[in-house]
Amino acid sequence: MTLTTTSFDWVRALVHKESAIVLQPGKEYLVEARLLPIARQRGLADVSAFVESVRSRPDTDSMRCIVEALTTNETSWFRDGDPFTALTSTVMPALLAARGPSERLQIWSAACSSGQEAYTIAMLLEDSMPNATTRVSITATDLSREMVARTKAGRFSQLEVNRGLPAPMLVRHFTRAGNEWEVAAPLRRMVTATECNLAAPLPRMGPFDVVYLRNVLIYFDLPTKQVILRRVRELMRPDGWLFLGAAETTLGVDDTWERVVVGRSSAYRPKKGN
Ligand SMILES: C[S@@+](CC[C@H](N)C(=O)[O-])C[C@H]1O[C@@H](n2cnc3c(N)ncnc32)[C@H](O)[C@@H]1O
Repeated sequence: MTLTTTSFDWVRALVHKESAIVLQPGKEYLVEARLLPIARQRGLADVSAFVESVRSRPDTDSMRCIVEALTTNETSWFRDGDPFTALTSTVMPALLAARGPSERLQIWSAACSSGQEAYTIAMLLEDSMPNATTRVSITATDLSREMVARTKAGRFSQLEVNRGLPAPMLVRHFTRAGNEWEVAAPLRRMVTATECNLAAPLPRMGPFDVVYLRNVLIYFDLPTKQVILRRVRELMRPDGWLFLGAAETTLGVDDTWERVVVGRSSAYRPKKGN
């Protein structure tokens, strides 16, 4: 371990300021592991040397590099299953019944990582709705430039497709591109990927009918979760649906949401009058 307390404290303050991600004391090993490859790439002996070089002469690019390296981009196809079953069994039928026949539907995959969540939704809708590719748009956003670029590209390694993607769906919706698999063009056209920091004022987007905000609130402190849930609600239709990660809830965080059970999943809906 080479990371000094000063370097660790500087990194965790930077990461919190730029992304709201909380790195508790004890996460020195994570900072060390994530920043070591960058330090080596830059010809520096260890992580503290790298951090000290940026700390003494801060530049936007290096600071962004540090913040992005400290994001955790773990994801997979159909992650946790039930929120996707709920989409086709309950949420889409309810929305289609409530909207006009030519009204477009907007879905947001917030903190989309490399795009598996957004493309899981796109595939499911194409398989279950005749006009999905023209009627539904999916906005996929993430703090990380690298993750947004990966989502835009819609290309996945064999290892990645092995994580939760059923073989018939791979055959139906992907083509081979060298060593990788590329999502079919109509699905890529459904998905618009852009950078968005959930911890900063959100850009004009939506209004969204469905929001998947999963496995990201866990990285934030309570006041940040509260602000994000309020901002997300402001971008949603009043009868919209919010899905959180299995370890996340609005309960005890923001009581302007109503928790509803949808099959084996929970969703959250804006309470009326808020
Ligand atoms: C664990 S992944 C979750 C991916 C996907 N939603 C899922 O459930 O599989 C968390 C993602 O949140 C992103 N993230 C972290 N802080 C963020 C912030 N302040 N604003 C937007 N995205 C953020 C990370 O870059 C990462 O890709």
